Amino acid sequence: MAKKKLAHFSEMKRMHCVYEPDNETMVRGDHPIKGRWNVEHFAHPNPITLELGCGKGEYALAMGRRYPDRNFVGVDVKGARLWRGAKTVEEEGQDNVAFLRIKIEFVHHFFAADEVDEIWLTFSDPQPKDKKETKRLTGKHFLARYARFLKPDGLVHLKTDSAFLYRATLKTLAEGGHKICFNTADLYGEGLARLDADRRELLQVKTFYEQKFLAAKKAIHYLCFKLNVNTSENF
Ligand SMILES: C[S@@+](CC[C@H](N)C(=O)[O-])C[C@H]1O[C@@H](n2cnc3c(N)ncnc32)[C@H](O)[C@@H]1O
Repeated sequence: MAKKKLAHFSEMKRMHCVYEPDNETMVRGDHPIKGRWNVEHFAHPNPITLELGCGKGEYALAMGRRYPDRNFVGVDVKGARLWRGAKTVEEEGQDNVAFLRIKIEFVHHFFAADEVDEIWLTFSDPQPKDKKETKRLTGKHFLARYARFLKPDGLVHLKTDSAFLYRATLKTLAEGGHKICFNTADLYGEGLARLDADRRELLQVKTFYEQKFLAAKKAIHYLCFKLNVNTSENF
């Protein structure tokens, strides 16, 4: 492994804002931080938003700056990417943003029932093959995991450039009886006029991939939904 990468990895182990359990701890079961983010980690006990698949964490960071009265946890498996976001958190002294380096498959080991207010899925990998459905972050197995810690009225947001992921998610939501709160295939086209002031404000922040896709004039699909816990409990 390149020297620089190794240096970043060892630096990350000392960072207060990063949780990086080893593989055995990640899969074993509940982690000690579960249910205690607002007690042990964050300086202020505020509503918690997760960004799942946060990459370098630009979005969680920008949201943290914009909403100082909310707490944000960026989750991704790629350490080299997370390092960038974590380094900025340390440099800026942001106390409302943390990072968790895990496979999202195990996210329910790190958050307790009702601990999370909101989830963002930002430009998740579409996983287009049918056999990959279990790996899709909006597939029924993942929605069931989220239902274990998301508050009953909590919102899930999906932004994607993938027409496949957008359509596959709509199908999963219909089959599971989940409630769609906002749906547009073209967020910055026809969707814009339908956004209320709060949602318009919320959607001001663009992720790294989103900026790239917008520059390439690609349509951004956006879905906001609430989970039907009755169907989600079956998994
Ligand atoms: C296309 S990138 C999007 C990054 C960022 N959200 C953005 O919009 O700029 C997808 C990210 O999701 C992460 N990811 C995908 N599946 C994952 C999984 N099962 N567990 C953890 N991270 C995952 C990848 O490592 C990658 O950083």
